[in-house]
Amino acid sequence: MNAESIIRRKRDGQELSQSEIQELVKGISNNQIPDYQLAAFAMAVYFQSMNTREISDLTMAMAYSGKVMDLSGIAGIKVDKHSTGGVGDKTTLVAMPLAAAAGVPVAKMSGRGLGHTGGTIDKFESIPGFQVEMEYSEFIEQVNLINAAIVSQTGNLVPADKRLYAIRDVTATIESIPLIASSIMSKKIACGAQGIVLDVKVGQGAFMKNLDEAQQLARAMVNIGKETGRQAVALITDMEQPLGYAIGNTLEVIEAIDTLQGKGPDDLEHLSVEIAAYMVLLGKKAASIEEARQKVKSVLQSGQGLQKFLAIAAAQQGKIDVQKPFYGFGSAPVLKEVTVDESGYIAGINALGIGKAAMLLGAGREKIGAPIDYSVGIKLLNKQGDYVKKGQAIALIHAGYKNLKLAEELIRNSVQVTTEKVKKTPLIIDTVV
Ligand code: URA
Repeated sequence: MNAESIIRRKRDGQELSQSEIQELVKGISNNQIPDYQLAAFAMAVYFQSMNTREISDLTMAMAYSGKVMDLSGIAGIKVDKHSTGGVGDKTTLVAMPLAAAAGVPVAKMSGRGLGHTGGTIDKFESIPGFQVEMEYSEFIEQVNLINAAIVSQTGNLVPADKRLYAIRDVTATIESIPLIASSIMSKKIACGAQGIVLDVKVGQGAFMKNLDEAQQLARAMVNIGKETGRQAVALITDMEQPLGYAIGNTLEVIEAIDTLQGKGPDDLEHLSVEIAAYMVLLGKKAASIEEARQKVKSVLQSGQGLQKFLAIAAAQQGKIDVQKPFYGFGSAPVLKEVTVDESGYIAGINALGIGKAAMLLGAGREKIGAPIDYSVGIKLLNKQGDYVKKGQAIALIHAGYKNLKLAEELIRNSVQVTTEKVKKTPLIIDTVV
């Protein structure tokens, strides 16, 4: 293979053929392409971009660079959801049981968190006893039995993306729409998804900082779906402030269970219902999005969504007692209120600042593989638009013995108060189909 000529052609803005892309990805997986050529390729794509056909070819070549999950043992259309990452984003914990209760088989593989955004696997693992590793046959069996299972992603999925991502991370080439879109979609396709509901977060606490970029990413991923015979829908949702009130693993699971009982925050319920509804639509369990919403709302109201969550936990050895305070989960030893210095309306709560504060407390990890403390985190007491009085508590820190002062300062600095009434930012900004 002549990697140099492929890099040169992309550098000069030419369109790469399917075979060139396949050759390149093969060279990435078998380490025939050295890091410096991979870095040059990533930079060429960063500047010259790729068209939809090239992005789709790259996606499929990466998806098939390692193991691909065979979900054919599960009847029905397998639908997955993916969030580009946010602060307090526990929608999977709510949307997954709702979609499963509405009849869609959800065979979910997920990852652990890194940096200021949390990971779904960490959240499930914060449930005492919950097992996120199981044999493939057990995984399929559980989905066939109760319509849902969640496992941690295995080592040999999408090795080409793993290598390319690591190079992009240190060569200032992460922020490339074709590379991000193919990276995300290759993992979803390798996990066996036939339908994919994407939640593209936009704002200070998100990967995409502005709406234009978020729309481009959403469009690129939906187009990959169309080119590769998978159905994809992308919601573009606000991440200027955290989702819900809870940030930190155990606190987020508690909030998700509250939501499944109809007593959670409005924003979390609204987004979870919308995501689950699109899962139901893509899974062909409803003929229209309106019918899908009705189905999801009905399993939420009847408690079938909660029962499905409890069934997933029971099947995976998680212990939850809905009658007990904190549902029987461990709590952090230190509670500390954060107060505001002035009276007024909350103009914004910087999600990035709150996410970093939670990470400092030990809820998230700075390095892959680092341990985390499930019980620590932040419970916001107010959201954007609320009126607060000087000295009023706006957040409750659940801490261990780490970085309490630092976290408190970060939280206080993340809340902006104004004398003017504040117009709330919409949560679901756009839907790309
Ligand atoms: N998340 C991914 O999985 N890949 C990217 O390239 C960026 C975010």
